[in-house]
Amino acid sequence: MPPPTTSDKGSEPSQAMFRFRCIGCASVATSAAQDFRCSECGNLIEITDSSWNSRNPIALKSLWRERRILNESLDLSGVWRFRELLPAPASEKTIVTLREGNTPLYELPQSSRTTGVPRLYAKHQGLNPTGSFKDAGMTVAATFARQAGYRWVACASTGNTSASMAAYAARGGMRSLVLVPEGKISWSKLSQSLDYGALTCQLRTDFDGCLRLLQELVRQAPVYQLNSINPFRLEGQKTLAFELLEQLDWQPPDHIIVPGGNLGNSSAIGKALLEMLDIGLIPRLPKLSVIQAEGANALVRTLREAAGKHLVSVQAETRATAIRIGNPASWEKAAKVLQATGGACEQVGELEIAQAKAEIGAEGIGCEPASAVTLAGLKKLLQQGFVKREESVVLVLTGHLLKDPDFTMEFHRGTLFQGSALESESAKLDPFRHPPIVLDATLDAVIKTLEQAEKSGPTPSNV
Ligand code: F0G
Repeated sequence: MPPPTTSDKGSEPSQAMFRFRCIGCASVATSAAQDFRCSECGNLIEITDSSWNSRNPIALKSLWRERRILNESLDLSGVWRFRELLPAPASEKTIVTLREGNTPLYELPQSSRTTGVPRLYAKHQGLNPTGSFKDAGMTVAATFARQAGYRWVACASTGNTSASMAAYAARGGMRSLVLVPEGKISWSKLSQSLDYGALTCQLRTDFDGCLRLLQELVRQAPVYQLNSINPFRLEGQKTLAFELLEQLDWQPPDHIIVPGGNLGNSSAIGKALLEMLDIGLIPRLPKLSVIQAEGANALVRTLREAAGKHLVSVQAETRATAIRIGNPASWEKAAKVLQATGGACEQVGELEIAQAKAEIGAEGIGCEPASAVTLAGLKKLLQQGFVKREESVVLVLTGHLLKDPDFTMEFHRGTLFQGSALESESAKLDPFRHPPIVLDATLDAVIKTLEQAEKSGPTPSNV
């Protein structure tokens, strides 16, 4: 089955002008290989379009703003609303959309107080249709998969990509194959791909093992891979940054902080920032920083131990299962954007992640554990002096609180670290826990509990 090209099928004449460019040797091609790697040097490819930087930034800003009040299907999507800076499908009719994007930018008043950063915001990508940032990329990649006539799409996943891919495949009339590590993804994510009709295989390996197998599979079977090395995915994920800057009236924040797993999202946000600067949509670049879990810190080690020259892969272990990845596919792209924007790469421990997640929950918005590394990472970057308190900071929350209810329940019940080396140290998180209380169904019992709670005062996470 042929890979998509820039001038493929479709009922209307193609307006596509984009090309595939290697991030290593910069060679340019009109079609992409199945593994999305350059045929000359083996590096990953990205999408480029010479028409993008000839756009008028003022006209673009007002066009995108006008579309926010229109009821046309494409304009209702917070991704396709920015279509001038996305690869153009041959026909708008092939677009597969669930009205993704349009996610809120929240202030974080309590975390602002505790960190001492008054201008602290969260861009909550967990409020996408399937509950994670993956939808912004998936609408674009599923559209091009459909345009090229693929019957099957496939991914390896820690749960969010698979949920998103399954939903968009279903909407686009394609079948989907999901490869996930058995016992290592949350039930809520797994249940999504079942409901959306994916052929779901739980493999007895980790995420990295699933991805390896997928890459062999796509060479032999007629399936199209929708992992984040698929460059169309990253194009859609760029819109997070477009929308964020629009919400900030095009005034760049000083810092954007994002969790790092397979490193597609950081690469996409970095690409968007560089393109916006190039076009003149923003006057300067925010620093883009990537935070990983200590137990899944391949990029941190790659930059510290190998000066970014080769990947230092790790055997990943963290309760933030979405980023339990030891061999990140897009590490070179991420390393490049960190360097280009002057961002940092840090790691945070399991207790720090759990505390930060409780703190974001207590803001009334919540997120999944992987997203909470951003707040934990900010605290570290403040201590190091890399982030200054007077600077503005945006945390990218990548997944919804309900994506991993087991983590949340275990945390509040006090069993999250039971039997682990962190058990005794985890007692320091007790003030952040709000465990459920089982009572007799009497008014007296409820009133006594209420009085007790009033006497003991609010916990640090809900002041
Ligand atoms: N946050 C969440 C909630 C995620 O699901 C992921 C990745 C990341 C952060 C990291 O993003 O990989 O672009 O660096 N989840 C993937 C998946 C790998 O299969 O759902 P990244």
